[in-house]
Amino acid sequence: MLYQKFKYSILIIGLLFNLPINAADPQIHMLVDTCIACHGTDGSSVGSATPNIANMREKLFIKAMQDMRSGERPSTVMRVIAKGYTDSEIRIMAQFFSQQQAIPHRQNFDAEKAAKGRQLHNLYCNGCHKIEGKTTKLLSNNLAGQQMPYLRYRLTEFINDSDPTLSPLMKNALKNFIDNNSQDSLENLIHYYASLGGK
Ligand code: HEC
Ligand code: HEC
Repeated sequence: MLYQKFKYSILIIGLLFNLPINAADPQIHMLVDTCIACHGTDGSSVGSATPNIANMREKLFIKAMQDMRSGERPSTVMRVIAKGYTDSEIRIMAQFFSQQQAIPHRQNFDAEKAAKGRQLHNLYCNGCHKIEGKTTKLLSNNLAGQQMPYLRYRLTEFINDSDPTLSPLMKNALKNFIDNNSQDSLENLIHYYASLGGK
């Protein structure tokens, strides 16, 4: 018991000094094993409405967990799950998942829509969600190969403005997109992200 506590303190000290997380550490597994059933062993999810969290930026991961825990960001299962974790546990998990490589999902997509989506993405979204070329920003989670049902659900949430914790940058970007195109043309983007899935 004392040993367990000791190991746990070491982890937290490591985190304070930003030492890399050792994925083989049994303490990490005690925390993240709960996530595996839905988000896959290394954060590349299993279910179609469950997002990939592998390689997710630490700050976004922490914000997502805290907002789902408080209920400010609407969620289904995560609302309950996130309640089981303290801020320091969330930080440990954030570091762990940010170091995992994302395996993009292989999904069926419409090639014509994906081609349109690629152009739209480069015009409206690439500045923050980099896929091609250089960007100075890279503020957000990677969308390439993310699950299509999850993307649809999340975008609808933004459009309905049901998530008050959402970054105003993203809110404005989406408003700008819809004003210049249409809500339906978001589907092209979703097919583009699906087209970037694994082989
Ligand atoms: C029962 C399935 C399930 C389990 C177990 C689960 N998740 Fe989730 N997770 C989801 C779903 C579904 C969503 C989408 C939000 C929602 O509806 O709850 C999600 C969303 C998330 C997000 C937000 C991702 C984003 O792109 O914004 C994070 C972060 C996350 N989960 C982390 C975790 C962690 C860490 C654990 C383990 C402690 C975990 N999840 C366990 C199903 C699950
Ligand atoms: C100015 C920067 C910016 C632009 C441009 C932008 N986004 Fe975002 N996006 C963000 C940020 C920041 C977040 C994280 C939001 C949060 O959690 O509060 C985000 C989150 C998202 C998410 C949720 C990801 C997840 O894992 O849950 C999706 C989907 C998304 N953006 C799609 C788009 C699309 C499609 C476009 C182009 C029409 C776009 N974004 C343009 C900054 C931007």
